[in-house]
Amino acid sequence: MEFEELIRERKSIRGYKKDPVSREVIEEIIETAKWAPSSMNTQPWYVHVLTGEPLDKVRKGNTENMLSGVPPKRDFPMKEAYEGDHRQRQIDVAVQLFAEMEIARDDKAKRHDWVMRGFRQFDAPVSVVLTYDKYLEPAAISQFDLGALSHAIVLAAWKRGLGCVINGQGIMQSAVVREHAGIPDDQNIMICIAMGYPDYDFPANNVKSVREDNEKFVRYVGFDELVDA
Ligand SMILES: Cc1cc2nc3c(=O)[nH]c(=O)nc-3n(C[C@H](O)[C@H](O)[C@H](O)COP(=O)(O)O)c2cc1C
Repeated sequence: MEFEELIRERKSIRGYKKDPVSREVIEEIIETAKWAPSSMNTQPWYVHVLTGEPLDKVRKGNTENMLSGVPPKRDFPMKEAYEGDHRQRQIDVAVQLFAEMEIARDDKAKRHDWVMRGFRQFDAPVSVVLTYDKYLEPAAISQFDLGALSHAIVLAAWKRGLGCVINGQGIMQSAVVREHAGIPDDQNIMICIAMGYPDYDFPANNVKSVREDNEKFVRYVGFDELVDA
């Protein structure tokens, strides 16, 4: 698949077939994705690949904590509420997802089910948890590096017919993930990636999110001078 097609065609997948994903194919994906750039080639990532019983325990622990009102706790500080354009784009994609899933605005039960699905890693057969060494805090640059790795993972997976959704929901109860994935105390949990073969009968998988026109966020500086020279 051409790069242009791959990057434009990929989308988040939130419904999966039950089929397992082989360790070999995941190994191949990581073998490719690790060519992502990182600050000073620090490669500050650890990749914990969960399936089977440990992943089921994470799903169960996340679900129990959320239902019993344990406040979500990540390993790093972050802004919880988006504003302005960011908030609008967050709403826009949620509207697309809810329309496909036939979740009405005021249908609290269905909205709740949808949110809980995220805490179950969308029932994917695999969850890939990315961490970095705690000593790196404040770790903005290393978190950036993990972002580059994440995109590479989801693209390498897509090329192999696998779908993913990078998600914060799965690691918001970080203590649960740490316990069942056996993540050492000196690593911070950044993000996880649900992965599996897409179920294209699952309506949310029809959503193609939108992007802003370049004019909205790109500035070209000094180009006129180049033309005039
Ligand atoms: C850092 C990060 C966290 C995300 N967290 C969630 C999440 O918790 N739940 C979810 O359904 N999608 C999550 N997403 C997926 C985004 O909603 C999705 O990438 C965005 O809407 C653009 O859609 P696309 O991936 O289909 O292009 C996350 C994506 C990123 C990069």
